[in-house]
Amino acid sequence: MDDLLRAAVAARANAHAPYSGFAVGAAVRGASGAVYAGCNVENASFPEGWCAETSALAAMVTAGETRFTEALVIADHPEPVTPCGGCRQRLAEFGAASAVIHSAGLDGVRARFTLAELLPAAFGLKP
Ligand code: THU
Repeated sequence: MDDLLRAAVAARANAHAPYSGFAVGAAVRGASGAVYAGCNVENASFPEGWCAETSALAAMVTAGETRFTEALVIADHPEPVTPCGGCRQRLAEFGAASAVIHSAGLDGVRARFTLAELLPAAFGLKP
């Protein structure tokens, strides 16, 4: 899990968050074991920005993987930061209900949730 944390911390350093000032990093571990990271990327047209988790998943899919086993999100916030609703659905596209999502602050991991806890009764279309 340390590798996930390191990757998310490094990605967070590149966050483009001039509007919210809230830099976020995320990392996912693909089924191969490889780690993919991402940061939030905001836009002057506010709704056009996206979250760190979305960037990390996009990096994973771009590399040719479509399943992750665990994920981590890090931000500087008093409460554990958890993925937004849209990102929970995006995570559910590529992860099992039992996949663990770690929530970290600058002092390290503070909380852990399964995807099922974050997105109960998830919508899905199985081919
Ligand atoms: N954000 C993330 O990147 N991930 C989260 O889990 C929560 C929120 C971003 C979106 C936006 O750029 C900023 O944090 C403030 O909401």
